Amino acid sequence: MSRGLALVTGATAGIGREFAEQLATRGYDLILVARDQNRLAHVAATLASAYGVATEGFPADLTTDDDVTRLAERIGASARLTILVNNAGFGTRGRLAGADPEKQVAMVRLHTLAPMRLIQAALPVMLRSRTGAIVNVSSVASFIYSAGNANYCATKAYLTTLSEGLAAELAGTGVQVQALCPGFTRTEFHQRMGLADRLPRFAWMSPGAVVGYSLRCLDRGGPTVCVPGLGFRVLVAIIRLTPRRLLGWVTRRRYDRV
Ligand SMILES: NC(=O)c1ccc[n+]([C@@H]2O[C@H](COP(=O)([O-])OP(=O)(O)OC[C@H]3O[C@@H](n4cnc5c(N)ncnc54)[C@H](OP(=O)(O)O)[C@@H]3O)[C@@H](O)[C@H]2O)c1
Repeated sequence: MSRGLALVTGATAGIGREFAEQLATRGYDLILVARDQNRLAHVAATLASAYGVATEGFPADLTTDDDVTRLAERIGASARLTILVNNAGFGTRGRLAGADPEKQVAMVRLHTLAPMRLIQAALPVMLRSRTGAIVNVSSVASFIYSAGNANYCATKAYLTTLSEGLAAELAGTGVQVQALCPGFTRTEFHQRMGLADRLPRFAWMSPGAVVGYSLRCLDRGGPTVCVPGLGFRVLVAIIRLTPRRLLGWVTRRRYDRV
């Protein structure tokens, strides 16, 4: 019997690397996507030898149309594709007025356009086989807006809303959709942003716990919006009950003090 095939973007570090490993332990063959070719080849070889699955490194910069098109074509030709994890992402700090415009455009492309196009490529394959799962790695930030983080929150809100709408469209088809909304997770994310680690240890989750929770939610068939960690689920519940104007007041006060 042929094994399932999973595609993970941003598979060389952090949450994506963990998805690749946990899916490999479940016996999935893997297509792994990131920009750094050497690192990609190393992760692909390590997982293939540790878990006896087939792995393919697919170097791509998903902020570019050409690379997204190449990957979409690869997906269209993958009849066994059962899981798509749209995970690649990055953060920046600072007010939009002073931010590097190219980087902000790249963020919109990576967090919104690329996942949308990859989902469109994957859906015909999954709908044909009447099985599959799409995981969009969003964030707790998708429920708030934040001074100094305006574009990031907005792109993640897109991913969460897209996932909820898609889940409604796909009900009864056998294809699941999940918006995975982690809080602070120990990966390379904050270090790549050049942020000092000032939060207490209890505020962080491990990528292993985040991905384990995501896969357990898929096993149970939901919910669509998946928030790992009891503390973050309580936080999201509070945010959802908080008037938007009050969120604005809090974020302005916090940012002015930084
Ligand atoms: N860590 C957190 O606290 C946290 C919380 C909530 C949500 N998230 C979300 O979780 C996702 C994964 O983040 P992480 O924390 O695991 O980050 P990470 O450790 O920095 O890993 C990012 C991964 O994405 C790849 N990547 C970055 N830019 C790319 C591009 N243009 N094209 C293709 N691949 C690219 C990186 O590889 P290359 O550099 O080689 O391309 C790397 O494999 C992101 O969407 C992030 O927004 C993270």
